[in-house]
Amino acid sequence: MQNFDYMTPTRLIFGKGSIEKLPEVMRPLGRRVLLAYGGGSIKKIGLYDSVRQLLSGFEIVELPGIQPNPKYDPSVLEGVRLCKAHEVDVILAVGGGSVLDCSKAIAAGAKYEGDPWDLITYKVKAQAALPIVDVITLAATGSEYDCGGVISRTETNDKIGYMDPLLFPVCSILDPEYTFSVSARQTAAGCADAMNHTIEQYFAADTTLLNDGFCESMLKSLMVNTRKCLDNPEDYTARAEMMLCCTYGCNGILSLGNSQSGWPCHGIEHALSAYYDITHGEGLAIITPRWMRHILSERTMDRFVKYGVNVFGIDPALPKEQIAIRAIDATYAFFESIGIPMHLREVGIDESRIDEMARHIAQNEGLDKAYAPLSEADIRQILIDSL
Ligand code: NZQ
Ligand code: ZN
Repeated sequence: MQNFDYMTPTRLIFGKGSIEKLPEVMRPLGRRVLLAYGGGSIKKIGLYDSVRQLLSGFEIVELPGIQPNPKYDPSVLEGVRLCKAHEVDVILAVGGGSVLDCSKAIAAGAKYEGDPWDLITYKVKAQAALPIVDVITLAATGSEYDCGGVISRTETNDKIGYMDPLLFPVCSILDPEYTFSVSARQTAAGCADAMNHTIEQYFAADTTLLNDGFCESMLKSLMVNTRKCLDNPEDYTARAEMMLCCTYGCNGILSLGNSQSGWPCHGIEHALSAYYDITHGEGLAIITPRWMRHILSERTMDRFVKYGVNVFGIDPALPKEQIAIRAIDATYAFFESIGIPMHLREVGIDESRIDEMARHIAQNEGLDKAYAPLSEADIRQILIDSL
């Protein structure tokens, strides 16, 4: 087992009605609040009105319109400008992972005098950040329980994931009822994202029985509960379990003591959504089974066998290679069964920029050091297989 140094300082308030605790959470953090949100879903579900009412004693400045795959320009830049102009004390992010990720970049940028891109690209280490509270309305990224954010810069086709312990939310309020309105498409994409977070941590060289079991349970729970959410979007128990699974996905708790895996599917997908602005979870669902096929070898075989037997219940008496291939096929079939388009062409991506994307990924994502190292040619092949 590898050494580790781990902390997740975020307070989680989970369950029906947990929004009532918002004033108590916010009060010690200050009076001037930047309220960040997306394209309007929080207004449709009444959450915007609840927040405004609960925070009636606070001074609120709004940053609306944060898009999926949040953009550096205008959202991060505008948020930083607002925080500085209004001397904001705390950021309240209400919405999906994109709203929260954007808020994280703003939180650091607001305490920095230079170009916030310096922080996102690690050119400069942030010295301080505004505190962040969030109310998450979509189960997917796990941003509510980690210190990472992913920001897109359209003009350079960059989509950069960056992490800084200063950016852990102080508190995340998670009420599964706010996810009842999430569309079938986004529910499935959220499931694929969280499943892939788990898979990225499961496929590593050194793992433990403990972590493997945790990951296997996550994957089974996500599959069962996503189907239930799709059958009945207001199934509280299923939405709740899905939400908690997603919360655990990205803060490293599933792989404490494991060797690093390199998160290859994320490395590849971030380029897809940078170049084509596609939905992150859909890109991951398309890439994952093709990546699995590509890295299946004598060396990785036993991981696939364990995955197939413990997650999909494949007969352990079958020959190893058959188990591995069935497991990969079952992964593909599950994503397809929840309505995810399983080819890049279906999400508007053709072969025209594959060479360029493969080069970009090989140069920027460090996948030559992944659990199963990927060269530019490997990445190109995975993209072609995904068309
Ligand atoms: O903009 P609004 O109107 O709010 O609509 C959003 C958006 O259109 C909608 N939505 C959110 N909550 C809803 C709802 N619709 C109805 N009812 C609700 N309750 O869903 C759409 C997608 O929202 P978005 O925030 O983009 O989705 P998600 O939470 O999946 O976030 C995706 C982003 O997170 C990044 C991804 O790359 C992507 O940019 N990631 C962040 C990570 C992190 N911070 O740890 C890790 C992930 O791997 C991921 O890369
Ligand atoms: Zn993800």
